[in-house]
Amino acid sequence: MLWNPEDWDAVLARTEKLRSHGPAPLTALQGLLEKVPDAERKTVADLGCGTGALLPLLADRFGHCVAIDYAPRTLARARKSCVGGSVRFRRRDLRDLTPFRNSFHVAVAVESIVGPRLEDIDRMLEQVRRSLVEGGRFFAVFPAMQRQDPPRPMRLAGHDHSVDMLCFHEVELQYRLTRHGFQGIRLRRVRDEDAGKDKLLATSTARANN
Ligand SMILES: C[S@@+](CC[C@H](N)C(=O)[O-])C[C@H]1O[C@@H](n2cnc3c(N)ncnc32)[C@H](O)[C@@H]1O
Repeated sequence: MLWNPEDWDAVLARTEKLRSHGPAPLTALQGLLEKVPDAERKTVADLGCGTGALLPLLADRFGHCVAIDYAPRTLARARKSCVGGSVRFRRRDLRDLTPFRNSFHVAVAVESIVGPRLEDIDRMLEQVRRSLVEGGRFFAVFPAMQRQDPPRPMRLAGHDHSVDMLCFHEVELQYRLTRHGFQGIRLRRVRDEDAGKDKLLATSTARANN
């Protein structure tokens, strides 16, 4: 599967609930978002918002909220579920966030910086960093390598042979975030009981001079 917008529409159409994962990653993220100072004066972006599970919280807490996803039917569902909220919806590929350069104080990406191609992951991370203001905060949940998975070497650019959704171990994710200009990286393993899998919750700060 290539994981094009239509693939995501098909997958998410099968889920009744708004989120595509168990509640634990969202609860952990919520705790972090609640600690962002002066949120009412800040702009937050939900990158790969899916059906919009996080949008009520973001719209309630932040001054401005932008919801971005490239899957048309999924984005329409998010828009419908957010009636009355002050959220701007944009259909856009996270691999090109050019119109949002230096726009966001906070970016959130819950299992949306995903796919089978490492070069796409790297490109999305680079674009997210550029969409953030200097010192902007990035909170993201990534699919994790499971503790019982056999160890494998770090994937560098050019090692692009996966057909499955890529999962990350802590060292590799730290490397990728650092490489794309994020600092102060903290990674935490969170158990997603619904999926029966661990996820990695990453917090970091965008630094342009890196
Ligand atoms: C697993 S779902 C997660 C949705 C939501 N963040 C949540 O927590 O429920 C992944 C979402 O990311 C979106 N996505 C994946 N790759 C994308 C890309 N390159 N550009 C924009 N959206 C993307 C998909 O369309 C899908 O809605």
